[in-house]
Amino acid sequence: MLEYVEVEGVRNLSGVKVPLSAGATALFGANGSGKTSFLEAIYLLGVGRSFRTHQSRPMIQHGAEFCRVVGRLSEQGRSLTMGIEKYRDGGAKARLEGEPVPSLSDLAQQLPLILVETDGLGLLTGPPEGRRRLLDGTLFHVEQGFLAVWRRYAQAIRQRNAGLRRGILDGDSAWREELAQTGEQLTAVRAAVATQLGEKLCEIAPQLSDDLRGVELAFRPGWDRRETLAAALDKSAQTDKIQGFTRVGPHRADIKLTRDGVLVSEVLSRGQMKLMFVAIKLAQGQLIEALSHRAPFYLIDDLPAELDQAHRAAVCTELGAQRQVLLTAVDRGSLEAAWGGHPLELFHVEQGVISRC
Ligand SMILES: Nc1ncnc2c1ncn2[C@@H]1O[C@H](COP(=O)(O)OP(=O)(O)OP(=O)(O)O)[C@@H](O)[C@H]1O
Ligand SMILES: [Mg+2]
Repeated sequence: MLEYVEVEGVRNLSGVKVPLSAGATALFGANGSGKTSFLEAIYLLGVGRSFRTHQSRPMIQHGAEFCRVVGRLSEQGRSLTMGIEKYRDGGAKARLEGEPVPSLSDLAQQLPLILVETDGLGLLTGPPEGRRRLLDGTLFHVEQGFLAVWRRYAQAIRQRNAGLRRGILDGDSAWREELAQTGEQLTAVRAAVATQLGEKLCEIAPQLSDDLRGVELAFRPGWDRRETLAAALDKSAQTDKIQGFTRVGPHRADIKLTRDGVLVSEVLSRGQMKLMFVAIKLAQGQLIEALSHRAPFYLIDDLPAELDQAHRAAVCTELGAQRQVLLTAVDRGSLEAAWGGHPLELFHVEQGVISRC
């Protein structure tokens, strides 16, 4: 579990140290008080970047040169201090037990995070990239060596596309082979994790709402898998050359989310989509826990938004069964009502100051 978090210079938060409950911790406070910023700080610690911006600068407090987040993790008798600093010029430093580590992914390995952000519905309605990230983010925590294969594929596809733009096709057969081989590997593990995620989703979604009975998750690998990736690449080669990019392969993969055969984005209401989004994230968290034997930390921003009282309570019942959860809301009453009297460590946020109630 994450025992505490210290935040320095993330948006309006400075000199903040919050001890976290082993179960549920909740932050409430007015608009603009700093709730999402606190979640953003924990996400930065666990993932190495913000979920609100791709750059460091907007996140760093006005007038400050850098921001820093430190947290202490304790698990199965061992404890570990993790820290990250981000600088205005885009630089970053990550530390484990005070020692610099070469890659931010070394931090990310330590702390599986499941984020339910307020504008996350793009997972259902937006481009496939977010849905690929759902699969890849899961695999990162459960499949050893996944990141290395993912990086090799990304490098090979970059090379092929760069070649295509210059009118060269398969100039070097070594990286053509690399592309086909890593692409097949990537797809095999994605297909397996998508099946498991789909099974978990079918269990969890109806617990959150009867309207989510009949939801399904189907994996789309990015090419017709009745043939090998190598064959599919060969077949599309001439058109790829004309268009200047590779049209088939795992970089075009997607997952299709349906209810009774109809795309959820076409049939669900806003509130139902939020419930579906939460169900997917819970399914991801539970799958990571089942496969890696490590309980993820759930970050749920503005839980009550867009949900009626009954559905808030249903979400809280599912969340309450998870290990460590951090929730936010504008008002205390709605959180306490939804949480239904189970233990909840409450903090009030006011102009960047976080105090225990
Ligand atoms: N780089 C920055 N430096 C200082 N303050 C910032 C920076 N970026 C944003 N802020 C301010 O930080 C405050 C906290 O924002 P945050 O998004 O955390 O609020 P919130 O409590 O989640 O509000 P809401 O309920 O509206 O979602 C806001 O007042 C915002 O204007
Ligand atoms: Mg917010």
